Amino acid sequence: MKEVKMTIDRGFVTAPVDERIFGSFIEHLGRAVYGGIYQPDHVCADEDGFRTDVMELVRELQVPVIRYPGGNFVSNFFWEDSVGPLENRKPRLDLAWRCLEPNTFGLGEFARWTEKVDARMMMAVNLGTRGIADACNLLEYCNHPSGTKYSDLRRKHGVEKPYDIKLWCLGNEMDGEWQLGKKTMDEYGRISQETAKAMKLIDPSIELVSCGSSHKDMPTFPQWEATTLEYNYDYVDYISLHQYYGNLNDDSADFLAQSDDMEEFIRTVISVCDFVKAKKRSRKQICLSFDEWNVWYHSKKEEEDIIQNHPWQTAPALLEDHYNFEDALLVGLMMITLLKHADRVKIACLAQLVNVIAPIMTDASGGAWRQTIYYPFLHASRYGRGMVLQTPMDSPSHETSGHGLVKDLVSVAVYNPEKEELTVFAVNRNLEEDHLLKMDLRSFEGYRLIEKLELVSDDLKAENTPFGENVRPLVSRNVKEDNGYAQTVLKKASWNVIRFGRQNL
Ligand code: AHR
Repeated sequence: MKEVKMTIDRGFVTAPVDERIFGSFIEHLGRAVYGGIYQPDHVCADEDGFRTDVMELVRELQVPVIRYPGGNFVSNFFWEDSVGPLENRKPRLDLAWRCLEPNTFGLGEFARWTEKVDARMMMAVNLGTRGIADACNLLEYCNHPSGTKYSDLRRKHGVEKPYDIKLWCLGNEMDGEWQLGKKTMDEYGRISQETAKAMKLIDPSIELVSCGSSHKDMPTFPQWEATTLEYNYDYVDYISLHQYYGNLNDDSADFLAQSDDMEEFIRTVISVCDFVKAKKRSRKQICLSFDEWNVWYHSKKEEEDIIQNHPWQTAPALLEDHYNFEDALLVGLMMITLLKHADRVKIACLAQLVNVIAPIMTDASGGAWRQTIYYPFLHASRYGRGMVLQTPMDSPSHETSGHGLVKDLVSVAVYNPEKEELTVFAVNRNLEEDHLLKMDLRSFEGYRLIEKLELVSDDLKAENTPFGENVRPLVSRNVKEDNGYAQTVLKKASWNVIRFGRQNL
C-alpha cells in the first residue's frame, strides 16, 4: 500500500466557506414541485400541501439557499400567473419542457415552503421572453414594503411583510440554443446590464448573478464571460457556472477524472473575471455562483421521448436519474472542488433537490428516500462549514483514457474554529489500490478523532431504492492517532470524512 502525506496547518487558510455553497435548486420541471415538494393528497402532506417526509430530508441536508423557479423554465415564466387566489390561476404551456404548468404552486407557496425548510430563496428573472420591466415588477412585488402597485398586490395576496429576497439570477443559460429567447453575448450583455441597473435602483441591498456559459464546452466559452462582463461588471456581483457530467462510455476511471475539468472550468472563469477587472481598472471582484452542478445522463433517453412524443402532461417523470455508487463519488469530488475554491466560489446549487436529478426521491403513494449522492452532499453541508485550509499532499497518480494522468486522492480540509472541529474530506478515485493517508496535525494540539465516515461499495453501479439503501455511510474504525499525527486507509473507490475535535480535558 502506498503512503500519502498530508500536512494540515491551521495557519494556512484559503478562505472562509460561504454557507451558500451548500445551496440547491427547485425548478418547475417533472415531479420536482408537483409530486415532489408539493402533493396535497399525500398522507404526509401538511396544511399547505407540502410533503413533510420530503421537508424532513431537506432539513437534514441543511440547504441554506434554493434557486427557483428555473432553469430553462424561467425563460417563459410569467410570475403573475403563479400568485394570488388559487381559483383565479390558470394553467399555462411550459415551453421549456413542453409540459402543462398548473400554477397551483407558485412564488408565495415556494416562499412558505423555504421558510419551513429553513432556507432562503434565490430567485431568477425571465430575460428570455420578457425583460427589464417584468424583472422590476417582480422585484417590487417581492421586496418593496408597501404603497406601490406590486407591493400592494402582494399585501392583497395576504403577505404583509416583503419576502426580502437577496439573491437574483439575471436569466438562465442565455447562450443555449434550447433556451427560449436565447441571446448573443452582446444582446445578453446589454439586457443584463440594464436590468441589473434598474433592479439595484429598486433595492440596492440585493446581489445579482450574471449568466455565464451553459457549460465549459459551449463554443463561445470563455468569450461569452468576457464580453458579457464587460457590459454588466459594475452592476453584478457573481457570474454563473453550470456543469453536469455523465459516464456514457462506461469508463469509470475517466468518469471520476471529470472533477479535474470542473477545476479547470473554475480557474478559467476566475481568470476571465480578473481580466475584465484589470481591463476596467476596477477594484471590484466578481465571485462565482456555480448554480447548477451534478451528474446527469441516466435518464436522457426517457426525457427526450416524453418531451418529443408525449408533450403537455402535468408533472411527468422527467430527468429522474437513478444514481449509483460511482455517481456519489463524483458528486463528492465535485463538492471538494467547490470547497477548495472557497475564496471565489461563494454560491453553488446542487441541481436539483427533489425527483429531478436529485438526492431526494419520492414515491407518489409511498415515502421519500435518499439516493446515493445524498450522502457526500450531506456530509459536506454538515461538516464543511468553517475555513478551508491549504493542505499539501503527495498523491500518487493513475492513467485514464481521456484525462491522461490524474491524482488518485482528491481532498480538502475544513477547520471550524467555533466548534473546534477539523474535517478532512477525501476521495480515493483509484479503482484498484488502497492508500495509507498520513496526516500531520501538529498544529491542532489537543484534537482527537471524533469519527471517520466511509462510503464504499464493491459495486460501482450499486443504487439505492425506495425499499433500501445499498449505499450508505458506515463508521470506520481504521484511524490510528499518534502524537500529532493520524493515519487511515483510504480504500480504493471511496468517499471519506475524517472528523477531529478538540478534546475537553
Ligand atoms: O437542471 C436541469 C436543466 O439543466 C436546467 O433547467 C437548465 O438550466 C440546465 O440546462
